[in-house]
Amino acid sequence: MSITSVLITGANRGLGLEFVRQFLALPKPPVHIFASCRNTDKATELQAIAKKNSNVKVIKLDVKDVESFSSLRQQLELDLGDKGLNLLLNNAGILFRDSLEEVTKETMMENFEVNVVSPLLLTKELLPLLKTAASKSNEKKLSCSRAAVVNITSKMGSLDDNTSGGCYPYRTSKTALNMVSKSLSVDLKPHGILTFVIHPGWVLTDMGGKNALITPETSVGGMIDVIVNAKDDHCGNFFNYDGKKILW
Ligand SMILES: NC(=O)c1ccc[n+]([C@@H]2O[C@H](COP(=O)([O-])OP(=O)(O)OC[C@H]3O[C@@H](n4cnc5c(N)ncnc54)[C@H](OP(=O)(O)O)[C@@H]3O)[C@@H](O)[C@H]2O)c1
Repeated sequence: MSITSVLITGANRGLGLEFVRQFLALPKPPVHIFASCRNTDKATELQAIAKKNSNVKVIKLDVKDVESFSSLRQQLELDLGDKGLNLLLNNAGILFRDSLEEVTKETMMENFEVNVVSPLLLTKELLPLLKTAASKSNEKKLSCSRAAVVNITSKMGSLDDNTSGGCYPYRTSKTALNMVSKSLSVDLKPHGILTFVIHPGWVLTDMGGKNALITPETSVGGMIDVIVNAKDDHCGNFFNYDGKKILW
């Protein structure tokens, strides 16, 4: 099974950029890799990859700019024709670690806007393309090569795992993203679209910092393996990058 088309948000650095690299390295890479980022001019590594690989298209997308989502959909429709989009990978995210003493309305709202509202509304906008891909597929079961929404969450959003408290904006935004994803999994399943969330591990990116435990290569390698092999029973579940289930 191979994924024909994928849209990745936040593809200019960190895990998003590594996703682009590792999708390209698959035995059968996607025909369309839409690598979106908010500042295309400064995305030098991504632009260099796109120059060498005609299946990578760099797309300007600030996920906070929900007004731009419909023109993005139209652009994708032009590129994909009547085939639809197989995989939406909501990866872009921000992290505000505010403690109880530090937390403000602004940091809460900002974290929710980027980490919850944007993935939900982008999924809503691109639903017609995902539905088209699902209905045109020869596959009868759920899979990411048929049609899927994969949201990059964090274990910091797990209620079960929270023993250290704090980090109010980020934790709550990822918990909310998990609930959004659970509802999407129920709502989209009848349309043949698979939805689940993955925690990338604690990864050496700008967000993860220098003390993180694993490299982007290891994290994304694991997540791509989960994505490529995902089946019906992945629907509405929460996975670690190595494929193990995480408690909500
Ligand atoms: N690294 C970890 O240890 C870890 C652990 C758990 C979960 N995660 C999750 O994994 C995902 C990727 O994280 P990362 O480690 O790769 O973080 P990162 O290195 O900080 O990269 C974040 C990416 O998100 C993009 N982004 C932020 N706001 C955006 C916006 N408004 N519009 C478009 N793009 C935006 C950034 O673009 P700019 O360059 O334009 O800012 C960048 O491409 C996030 O959802 C994060 O919460 C990471």
